[in-house]
Amino acid sequence: MTTAIKLTKICKEFNQHPVLKNIDLEIKKGEIIGLLGPNGAGKSTLIKIMTGLLLPDNGEVEILEKSLLKNKHSLRKYLGIAPQELGIYPQLTIKQNLQNFGAINGLSSAQIEEKYLYVSSIFNLNDLKNKKAADLSGGQKRRLHSAIALMSHAKIIFLDEPTVGADVNSRNQIIHAIKMLSKQGMNFIYTTHYLQEMEALNAKIIFLNNGAIQATGSLEEILQIYARPSLELYFEKAIPSLKGWKKEDNHLKLTNLNSNKQCITILKELLNNPQINQTPLMNIKIIKADLESAYQTLLEKSISNEN
Ligand SMILES: Nc1ncnc2c1ncn2[C@@H]1O[C@H](COP(=O)(O)OP(=O)(O)OP(=O)(O)O)[C@@H](O)[C@H]1O
Ligand SMILES: [Mg+2]
Repeated sequence: MTTAIKLTKICKEFNQHPVLKNIDLEIKKGEIIGLLGPNGAGKSTLIKIMTGLLLPDNGEVEILEKSLLKNKHSLRKYLGIAPQELGIYPQLTIKQNLQNFGAINGLSSAQIEEKYLYVSSIFNLNDLKNKKAADLSGGQKRRLHSAIALMSHAKIIFLDEPTVGADVNSRNQIIHAIKMLSKQGMNFIYTTHYLQEMEALNAKIIFLNNGAIQATGSLEEILQIYARPSLELYFEKAIPSLKGWKKEDNHLKLTNLNSNKQCITILKELLNNPQINQTPLMNIKIIKADLESAYQTLLEKSISNEN
């Protein structure tokens, strides 16, 4: 058995407005999935449907090759979820929160103790264990919220924007924890608007847009197909428009280039152009072909398809 989650023709509407349109998807065991897409794309709705928190209007959700709807009770224990909205008991300490959720999720006392030690150490919550959740900082609350998803028998973990408000160190800790746990065979379905996290996790990318999957593939495949470098120049004062370039006062931008080499060639030509080489340059940026540029390409593609 290699399939962790299979979605077939999932549809969901809110107030007669389609939010998910015929989603087909297969997630293999052990994969880290980066569910990306703009605000309102349908990511959180899809996560709620995959975890049984919300029913689809149509379509089938299979977890570990069994229908989630028909086996909700027996399958629920394999799913750990940290939704987008914080779900912690503010009056309890970190330790009490983790222990409580362990008990709710059916762990024995010995399992709670073992998981608690493990989870609090990977999310770096040990030193804060006796602090009341209400008194934690925003980033600390997020870490606790993500840690709670692991206080169970869950093998498939859903983290909906776990790093919102987390500082660089906290983010790195969360990324490190996910990498470590995925090596032990756990699945992660992860949403974020910080695209570098997807690169750090080397996640399989699912790009959801307007309720449909617009692109899917390994990070490498997505970069190969959609990522394009771009070139930006800032001048000391306004410069004339140049064909093919986006211009704003003293700023020129050229996107969708083929390679860094092409950036250099174009830059050399530009710096020899008599229309602008009299104006002093302040800054030059070559923006590499990263996931952010792939994301922009996908968004622009969807907008041009709509028009
Ligand atoms: N309970 C609800 N009732 C009505 N509309 C809803 C409900 N939940 C979500 N929606 C709508 O469904 C669409 C998708 O929302 P969803 O929360 O899934 O987006 P998202 O991709 O997670 O966005 P974000 O990046 O902002 O978290 C949005 O237009 C939202 O307004
Ligand atoms: Mg969301």
